Amino acid sequence: MYAAFRSIGAYVPTKVLTNEELSKMVDTTDEWITKRTGIKERRIAAVNETTSDMAVKAAEKAIERSGIKKEDIDMIVVATISPDYFNMPSTATVVAHKMGLDKVTAFDISAACTGFIYVLSIAKAFIESGMKKNVLIIGAEKMSAITDYTDRGTCILFGDGAGAAVICATEDKSEAITDLHTAADGSLGDFLMTPDGGTGNPHQAELKAEASFIQMKGNETFKIAVRTLTNDVVEILADNNTKASDIKHFIPHQANYRIIKAVGDALKLEKEQVVLTVHKYGNTSGASIPMAMNDLYEEGKLEKGDLMLLDAFGGGLTWGSALLPFAGK
Ligand code: UT7
Repeated sequence: MYAAFRSIGAYVPTKVLTNEELSKMVDTTDEWITKRTGIKERRIAAVNETTSDMAVKAAEKAIERSGIKKEDIDMIVVATISPDYFNMPSTATVVAHKMGLDKVTAFDISAACTGFIYVLSIAKAFIESGMKKNVLIIGAEKMSAITDYTDRGTCILFGDGAGAAVICATEDKSEAITDLHTAADGSLGDFLMTPDGGTGNPHQAELKAEASFIQMKGNETFKIAVRTLTNDVVEILADNNTKASDIKHFIPHQANYRIIKAVGDALKLEKEQVVLTVHKYGNTSGASIPMAMNDLYEEGKLEKGDLMLLDAFGGGLTWGSALLPFAGK
């Protein structure tokens, strides 16, 4: 049995936060943000809109496009670092309940911006082992809830949104997810973190509200991201005897245009091969790859059989890549 990437869906909140608006909130400019990140604007969820609300909307679209019935979903895995509740219940169980799927296996994983690659690997493993048949994977983030809007080093980057995909069992090898890499280096955990909210910090009571916001060593993370991702994508292509020119769509995590360009240039990819949404959504962490893929799909540019290369890098530190054909109905 193989695992096929059957469908994609996404949800994008309506409220837009532009660089101009941010430049009135912190000491920054549209010019600086555009030049250093490629971001022009990002979406912000409504105050009462939760991560699970966004996840459900993305999931409903993905299921509608999958050719399977909602009731045939047997597992839901959500990648998020901005869950509805920090400890329990998991966002996946909230999503399952909102969708009327109370008997499925449901859990969250925490791999920050690499979350979607991690949930994809979990779906593949459960399907290939024969344990599950139709797995709903979701990357959903309300990053605005954990972003410090007085810190110009981070608040210019992040945005909200959700993306979802249905991964199904298939006997057709041509539909199979080809390969996946997932990795982590916990020694660099303090490059990107939210220090509050866990047993790792013994001084909970003394912590200020800012401790639950993202703290990032931006420039250090940037350099490692470029080096690590470049090596990783070269490796996954070589391992699978695939040339960069065989890739129809390179769909990277949308953290910074300069990281995407550096990796794309290292592979000598043409502009048409590289999917970019960072200018309009910013960095939506675990949601960014499926949101970008959904845009491609809705523009009519993602067709059955198209070979996709995904890559991501984020807190943990974690990173990963995936090589797979789109197996849409
Ligand atoms: O998705 C998860 C993984 N995350 C990432 O991959 C993020 C990786 N990092 C980045 O994208 C970039 O490092 C940033 C966009 C966060 C920063 O860009 P940079 O080119 O690495 O800038 P920098 O941190 O080295 O800062 C350069 C200068 C500094 O001023 P001085 O010391 O040279 O006077 C900063 O204080 O830019 C200043 N600066 C800003 N200026 C205007 C930092 N943020 C801003 C800002 N507006 N928003």
